[in-house]
This record gives sequence, C-alpha cells and structure tokens, in this order.
Amino acid sequence: EQLIEIAKKALQDLFKETEESLKTTLSEKTENFLFEFPDTAYGLPLIYALEGVKINSLNELKKFFERIKESLTQSNDAITLALNYLYLSEIALAVDYIKGIDKSSEFYGFLGDTIQRTLGVQLVDGRIPAVAVLLGRVESDKLLSIIKELQEKRILTFLIGAVAEEFLKTGQRHGFEAYVVAVGTKIEHTVFVIDWAVRASLIFGGQTAGDKDAIIDYVRKRINAFAISFGSLDEKAVAMAVGAAVLAIPVITDQSLPDVSIPEIAEYPLLTSEKDHSKIVRKAIETRGLKIVVEKPPIPVSYGPAFEGERVRKEDSFIEFGGQKTPAFEWVRMMEASEVEDEKVEIIGTDWQNRYEQGGRMPLGIIVKVAGKKMQKDFEPVIERQIHTFINEAEGLWHIGQRDINWIRISKKAKQAGIRLEHLGLIIMSMTKARFRSIVDRVEVLLYVDEKDVLTLREEARQEYRRRDLRLARLTDEEVDEFYSCLLCQSFAPKHVCVITPERPGLCGAFTWLDAKASYEIEPTGGNQPVEKGKLIDPVYGRYSGVDEYVKKHSGGEIQTINLYSIMENPMTSCGCFECIVAVTPEANGVLIVNRGYSGMTPIGMKFSTIAGMIGGGVQTPGFMGVGVNYITSRKFLKGDGGIRRVVWMPKELKERIKDSFQKRAEEEGVPELFQKIADETVCEDIECLINYLSKVGHPALQMEPII
Ligand code: SF4
Ligand code: NI
Ligand code: NI
Repeated sequence: EQLIEIAKKALQDLFKETEESLKTTLSEKTENFLFEFPDTAYGLPLIYALEGVKINSLNELKKFFERIKESLTQSNDAITLALNYLYLSEIALAVDYIKGIDKSSEFYGFLGDTIQRTLGVQLVDGRIPAVAVLLGRVESDKLLSIIKELQEKRILTFLIGAVAEEFLKTGQRHGFEAYVVAVGTKIEHTVFVIDWAVRASLIFGGQTAGDKDAIIDYVRKRINAFAISFGSLDEKAVAMAVGAAVLAIPVITDQSLPDVSIPEIAEYPLLTSEKDHSKIVRKAIETRGLKIVVEKPPIPVSYGPAFEGERVRKEDSFIEFGGQKTPAFEWVRMMEASEVEDEKVEIIGTDWQNRYEQGGRMPLGIIVKVAGKKMQKDFEPVIERQIHTFINEAEGLWHIGQRDINWIRISKKAKQAGIRLEHLGLIIMSMTKARFRSIVDRVEVLLYVDEKDVLTLREEARQEYRRRDLRLARLTDEEVDEFYSCLLCQSFAPKHVCVITPERPGLCGAFTWLDAKASYEIEPTGGNQPVEKGKLIDPVYGRYSGVDEYVKKHSGGEIQTINLYSIMENPMTSCGCFECIVAVTPEANGVLIVNRGYSGMTPIGMKFSTIAGMIGGGVQTPGFMGVGVNYITSRKFLKGDGGIRRVVWMPKELKERIKDSFQKRAEEEGVPELFQKIADETVCEDIECLINYLSKVGHPALQMEPII
C-alpha cells in the first residue's frame, strides 16, 4: 500500500515532466511530425501491444497522452496505475528520441525488431534461458563479477543507469554478442527492455495488438525476466518495479527491506531483498522460479556463448593453428567402442611442450573418436560442426572455419590464465559428451602437432569429407523415409510447426534435416520429432498425407494442410525468426527475397521489418513466407510455383552470400544468366523501376505463367 503511494507520487511527477517536454516539442515541430523508433514495425511497442494504438506522429502521441491524463483523474486499480507509469515512460523516451537526445550516445538505446528476431532461436532453445535487467549503482569490481556470473549462466543482461555508465567505463566487451547491453542512463530506459518483452508476443506469439490480458499473460508465462537493483530505490525505481511486476518481472534489491508482494498485481514478489552480492544472482533465479544448468569444461577461463563472439586479434594471440599458415584439420570419426578410450586426450608430437610454450604457430590435426550405441555415421558432421562453438565459448579462445580450413587462436591472456594445449582436447571431449550424451558414450581426442603426421592424416580426412559431400548431395526428400518437425518455436509461437526435410531446412537456418535427426536421437522427447511422410499426394507442390496429419495435430487443428514447395497455396507457416522473407511480387510475376539484416526499402514498398510484422505467429499467409537462406538454392525451392526462375529481386548482401550455389542451381535449371538478371537495391527500390529493369534484361519470370 505504501509502495503504491510512492508509485502514485512518481507517476504524477513523471506526468508533469513529460507534459513539459511534450509541450516544448510540440512548439518546435508541427503536430503532423512523423517519427518512429529505429527498426521497428510496432510504433511505441508497449502502447501498441497492450492498447492497440500505433503511434507514429506527434499528433497521435499527444492524443494518447491526453488519454492518460484523463485516466489519472479517475481512481484506478493498481494495474492501471502501473501500466500508466510504463506508458508515460515510453512517451518520455519517444520525446527524447524526437529531440535527438538519445542519438549520439554510446548507449544502445531502443532495441529493434531485427536483433529480437535474430535471437529468437537462442531464446527458444535455451541458449538464452533468461533476461536480466541491472539498475542502480554498485562498485565496479562487484558489478563485473555479477556480470561474469550472468554471462556464464547465459543470461542476457541489460544495464540501466549508473551501472550502464560504470560498465562502459571499464572498457569490457559489450553488446548482444557479449550478452550484456548498456541500454541507457535513465530509469525510464527500463521500458526499452519491457518493449522487447511485450513485442515477443507480437513477433513470435501471433498475439493481436490491443489484446491486453492475453499479451500480459503471454509475457508472464513465456518471458523469463528479472531485475536486480543496486543501492537505495528512489520513487521512480519503485514505480518501475510496480510496473515490471505486472509482467512478472521480480526485482531483487541489495537493500534491507522486507519482501513485498502486491497480490492484485502479480503472483511474484515485487521486491525481494538479498544483501550479499555473491548470492544475488542465485536469489533472482530462484525468485523467478528458473532452473539453469551450466555445462562447463574443466578449464581455467570463463565459458559460455557470451564469450563466443569475442575476437582474438593477431597482436593479442599467443599461438595459432591452421588458418592456411600451418596445416590443420578437425575430423570426427565414429568407431567401435573397443577402439575408443573414453575421456582420453592425447597430444602426439615431438617436444610439443616446449614448442607450445614458445608460442607462435603450430600444425594441428584434431581427431575426435566417438562411439555410442545410438551413434550413426550421419552424425559425424553434426558433432564436427559443434567443435567451432565448443572452442569459441572459451574466453580467450577463438575458432573459425571447419574441416581442413579451420583456424584456432589462443590469446596471451588465456595462456596467462593457464590454458594449455591439452585444454583444446579437454574442451572438445567434455562438451561432446555433455551435449551429445545420448548418442555418444565414449569420446577420445587426439591432437597431432607434427607437420608430417598432420599432412598424412589430413589427406585421409579429405577423402572422408568428399564421401560425406557426395552422400549429402544424394539426400533428397524422395530418398528418405521420414521428415522431422521442429517445435522449438512453439514456446513462443504455439501454433507454428517447422517441417524439416533434406531439401528444406528450418526457416531460422539453425536446423538441417540431419541436425533435426541427430537432435531427435539425442533427446527423443525434445523439439524435433520424426514426421511420417505418408502418401505423396502432390510431388510438385510437395504435399504428403503424413505431413498434413502431423501439422494438423501439432498446430492444434489450426492448419489443415501444407505444401512444402509452394508460397501461393497453403504455404508453411512462419514463426518469427526466419532468416529471409520471400514475397510474391505480382507486377513482376515473380518473388523477391529479403534477408533479416537488410534495413532498406524493397520494391513492394515495405521494409523487412514491416513484412515480418505481417507474417509470423504460426499462420499461413499465401504470398509471403519465412525461409532459411539455404532453402533458396534447394531444388525444391518454390517448385510448385515455378522454382528459382521466379526470383526477381534480392538485396546485394544476400546475393553475394549465396552466389556460388545459386549459380550452380541456375545452370542446372538451364538459365545460367539468371543471377545477373536479378535486381538489387543498387538497381531499384520501387516497382516501376524493377519492371523496367526486368524487361530490359529479359528476366525469365516475365515469360512464365501468371503466379497469381
Ligand atoms: Fe523455430 Fe523452425 Fe528454427 Fe525450429 S527450425 S527453431 S521451429 S524456426
Ligand atoms: Ni572465445
Ligand atoms: Ni522461430
């Protein structure tokens, strides 16, 4: 009750502040002044999601502000009070944004749609098990160790206020890759994180804007978030905590306060006290009711995805392997159990200790021998590809490439921390056992460091890579007995089902058919399940009776039938984390493809974020479809609608990325000049210009039968 009084007071203050700054802004700009936060299709996302009002002009902003004013004169329940505070904060941030206050700072500011979609898969598959907000003020060594702890637990952390400034001052790595983002300096900036939470319901959940109760319920159930507040709480912080509680975001404070709950707002305690900073993260996790399992190899440096993206530059590296400078390769081999000595790491080479201690460069052949009752030859490349992640997740270790073009660096700092050569083997051994525990019973890692050995074994490995590639090329939808589903995104998009076939990877790009198959073997009750193909009803559109049955059942009856190879008729649904969108462009009698990173305009008059906002949530939207990059160059790409010839426009960066495989496919289709005829943003961004260009170059789509 007392807290509610404090929050009320804060609300009135914030109201006055905002009224002032809104007034000055209105006097400087016209009422029709248009604005939008960078990279979002959702206006002011919180207000849009909960109230269904999309605000893109000062006029609309003012109107909504008046609405709050009205509501303040009435006596309100605690939830309305809490929401009003959040809305006002969002408006205040919008006004700051219009004034350009946020613009040139080193803080991240508004969190856009793109990064949210990019992180979609990590959020659903548990690589990011929770989101934390840190606010207030604390000494920097304590802050750093708390952030380290959160990073090791793979929790994505947003910093607000003094802690954000403090952290930036330390010069530590930050940003989404590092799992720690300095959002802004004011307590109001917390709303940018709340924006992110509610927007998930629209991007992934297929919720309708304005459906307030459903969206609040969605966020409470599906977004695992908590806040930790350092130092004394001022009025604004209390009001923000009350607001956060509505969305089941508990606040842990390091002040001694009695624990407080407001039952009419949330089932979680609003404020929980934990004075010991070494326990505060655990307390937060417990309070939010989360279970977070950390898998860490026995190494003397930090470990986790937060350290994956860190680069080890040449001048910082102690030693490197491969990278075309020394011969190197990595090769996972399935063996009989009797041929594998479990948990053994062996280094084979003359005088290797001394050579390692000197630093510089060394050849390196990594052979990972695995055995397991459920292991299959097909899983070798699936495990092999993870070596990249396993090594990169170690702080101060860096890995790129794969097979015989791999490149590994160990930084000077990691060396000082005690990283030895055998740690490379230990990391691969223990992580392979941890992540693939149900298919792999025994793992042995051999590290060869003599050039002569590496060259001979590399030749053997190369022959095996070639055999694998041949086999992969022969894997077709017709050849295999079953497909796999992916239901991971259902934790955000409850009706969405990805059907993954050898020739159609998951739309997020994270799952090929082999990956899905392996992950089913690893976790038979997990997100990937076999899908019986049943009868082939239509080979051109890719319709299978078994797929239909499966999708119908797992979309809760929502989707009756899908065509795997069509965008026009009963296409597959999309969740929110697609790498690309294919969109029918009727005037050009074809389709355009736009990738997630492209922020410019497309010839259908919409940006990626706008189209993306129209399609997710597990519904079929003929004419639009989310796809993975690799599907574009599959033989089954839009087979039912005319295939690859339909592609008339792609952003340049996407073109470059798929150039080689696209060219190969185009030649196979008998249109070797197709790639050159596809327009990009340097040619045109509007439809008339596109049509002119296509007819000038004689694009084959214009000759095809009508797509609609
Ligand atoms: Fe989500 Fe589909 Fe990717 Fe699975 S394959 S994580 S369902 S987008
Ligand atoms: Ni690393
Ligand atoms: Ni998804």
